[in-house]
Amino acid sequence: MIIFPEGFLWGAATAAYQIEGAAREDGRVPSIWDTFSHTPGKVRDGHTGDVACDHYHRYAEDVALMRELGLRAYRFSIAWPRFGTPGFGFYDRLLDELLEAGITPVATLYHWDLPQSLQDGGGWLDRDTAYRFAEYAAGAYERLGDRVATWTTLNEPWVSAFVGHGSGRHAPGVGDPAAAFTAAHHLMLAHGLAVQALRAAGAGSVSITLNLAPILGDEEPARLVDGLCNRIFLDPLLRGVYPEDVLAHLRRFTDVKLDDLETIHQPIDVLGVNYYSPKHVRTDPEAPGHPEHPGTEGIAFVDPDGPVTAMGWGINPECLESLLVRLSREYPGTPLLITENGAAFEDTVTGDDRVHDTDRVAFLDAHVRAAHAAIAQGADLRGYFVWSLLDNFEWAHGYHKRFGLVYVDYETQRRIRKDSFHWYRDVIAANGLR
Ligand code: NOJ
Repeated sequence: MIIFPEGFLWGAATAAYQIEGAAREDGRVPSIWDTFSHTPGKVRDGHTGDVACDHYHRYAEDVALMRELGLRAYRFSIAWPRFGTPGFGFYDRLLDELLEAGITPVATLYHWDLPQSLQDGGGWLDRDTAYRFAEYAAGAYERLGDRVATWTTLNEPWVSAFVGHGSGRHAPGVGDPAAAFTAAHHLMLAHGLAVQALRAAGAGSVSITLNLAPILGDEEPARLVDGLCNRIFLDPLLRGVYPEDVLAHLRRFTDVKLDDLETIHQPIDVLGVNYYSPKHVRTDPEAPGHPEHPGTEGIAFVDPDGPVTAMGWGINPECLESLLVRLSREYPGTPLLITENGAAFEDTVTGDDRVHDTDRVAFLDAHVRAAHAAIAQGADLRGYFVWSLLDNFEWAHGYHKRFGLVYVDYETQRRIRKDSFHWYRDVIAANGLR
């Protein structure tokens, strides 16, 4: 048997725009994802988050599913576009329901849904947005701080910066390398200011979630890309500096205030890690560079050889293990939480109303084992959250990619437990696996 430490936080994760729906209800204002998804050609088949999983109305049924799973914790995000509107009361209802079910709430303040009005004023390219975010964080704490156990400032700032502003595959759809670096810096400033505001208001546990990908392949390009994806956030946040090699790139593209590093470098209580897949690179003098990795001319990003998920992402649990061990060695003293891990596969509902998602069960099983192996090597890992509780709006892929433990029939909003749901329930009950 593989047994996890007592109190290990078994969870599942979601995000507001991906599941809530009710996009125009109770005063919610538009976000950059409303604008983006309603712009033809941006999201596959024109899908939007207008209705999504209708979780805004069905949260009680969804919390009942969590209770049945035996979840110890639930990671969700708060919609900034509902802040200051009657709809913010939704989070009161959700939190009460979670606490009633004995589930620890882990709340993310920003999972990509910037109010469109702030985007119109410059969005993450404007320093002022960082200050607005800190105000929102303080206000959210005032309303919900008595019930939220851990506050996460940002989810995956790399994606906001380099996919939202580098390639433009995500909202706000800007395609400009300089903008990507500027946004990255301002997002980190927003994090630092929000941590200060949350602490001042009395918050006990504060975190940020990063998507971290081990980079495999030729040594030199792998090191550079590691800088541009991983250390560009890890070092400012946890050490108060930009790594030298990253700074050279930052300076090439943009002119941000390095004085901000002091504000960015706030003590945090836990680092959230989203892990799905490594990236593969090799030296290739012909390679033009990659829009999500500005500054990588001469480096080719190559497809993994070996099994992949429905996203085309390579399946590599060993990289989760090595990532956790690396973080605990290079950035000691910060407890870790796997805030997302999971996989999309082509799920089908069989006649007996089941979803036999054996691929997902195998994926999760291997990654849970890898997490345990990292703990055995000294990583201070406190919990593991599956992405996702429910199938949901997978950003530019719309509803075509399903990551849930629970299948959502979008026509009827019926929830169907997949085999992975039953598998995970057993893992949680045993606090480990055979
Ligand atoms: C990371 C993001 O935080 C989440 O929103 C997304 O759905 C998953 N990865 C899967 O791509």
